[in-house]
Amino acid sequence: MTTVIENDQKNDRLEVGTPLLEVKDLHVEFHTRDGVAKAVNGVNYSVAAGETLAVLGESGSGKSVTAQTIMGILDMPPGKVTQGQILYRGKDMLTMSNEERRRIRGRKIAMIFQDALSALNPVLSVGYQLGEMFRVHQGASRKEAKEKAIELMDRVRIPAARERVNDYPHQFSGGMRQRIMIAMALSLQPDLIIADEPTTALDVTVQAQVMDLLAELQAEYNMGLILITHDLGVVADVADKIAVMYAGRIVETAPVHELYANPAHPYTKGLLRSIPRLDQKGQELYAIKGLPPNLLKVPTGCAFNPRCDVATDLCRTEIPALHHVTDKDGKELTGRRSACHLWKETLHG
Ligand SMILES: Nc1ncnc2c1ncn2[C@@H]1O[C@H](COP(=O)(O)OP(=O)(O)OP(=O)(O)O)[C@@H](O)[C@H]1O
Ligand SMILES: [Mg+2]
Repeated sequence: MTTVIENDQKNDRLEVGTPLLEVKDLHVEFHTRDGVAKAVNGVNYSVAAGETLAVLGESGSGKSVTAQTIMGILDMPPGKVTQGQILYRGKDMLTMSNEERRRIRGRKIAMIFQDALSALNPVLSVGYQLGEMFRVHQGASRKEAKEKAIELMDRVRIPAARERVNDYPHQFSGGMRQRIMIAMALSLQPDLIIADEPTTALDVTVQAQVMDLLAELQAEYNMGLILITHDLGVVADVADKIAVMYAGRIVETAPVHELYANPAHPYTKGLLRSIPRLDQKGQELYAIKGLPPNLLKVPTGCAFNPRCDVATDLCRTEIPALHHVTDKDGKELTGRRSACHLWKETLHG
């Protein structure tokens, strides 16, 4: 049986590979009492229809600020975009008219947050909130909107949707609430979903279920997905490519399996070594020494150098550009870049 929602959603699905979003040389600063924090410092990434980009990095690396800037929900002030472009299907959202921008943000691009409880309205039933989109934008009656809400709840596999449609957010478990958030995002029929730590607040087993659901829906509707996380373990099975962020910059990009098999940046290497592995029980877990820098006092040269085991004098003085990397025969590796002076040794050593 094809449902109404499915029919609607299949109408203008984009072909896999259609470029959706391209962030180009984005710079975002925060003006604080203590100085200027460059939270996003020349970030570039892109995602196409049917593709999942994972954005990975420790706390404070600029993952959420980048996403908030894309969504237009950055607090300005103190935040300020000082440079760059955010192209949605080729058009810069930072310079288009407010009207155009409104049509894209929240409609073509939807966002899922870590904390569903604070994103949902506590005093309205989930059915009401899910149906709102259909009432407001499609002129559906209350009854029709409720049916749509039930369909959406079924779609994200909330058991007994019809009985639960009038329940309130707090009556659902964390995992179920996160499914409701996904349903809410889907109701807009977006081209692109940005999910910022969508499973961080959940138990590990529930995490996997929610992640699988998200990946499944993304593939089914050929959506682009930007998956923000600090947990490399979560993204291995669902992402196509990864951008690793450190102190406001992208330090490595790669197709997901290549990054896992053979990282080209010591930071990525450290992150990979700090994932618990089932086949190495009993081994002490590695932790990268030190902490991410205070953005008001970023080290000179490569921002990672004080924590890096292989840093040289060059690393302490010169900021490494995000280079293309090559295989041992000098052939460029597609989609792979590293911002490390010692990428060759790291990748091939
Ligand atoms: N409203 C704000 N005012 C001042 N500084 C801010 C503000 N929002 C973010 N920042 C700074 O920007 C930097 C990047 O923050 P961001 O939220 O993007 O990190 P993140 O990579 O998403 O980390 P996390 O994994 O903790 O979510 C942080 O150092 C933070 O202090
Ligand atoms: Mg964040």
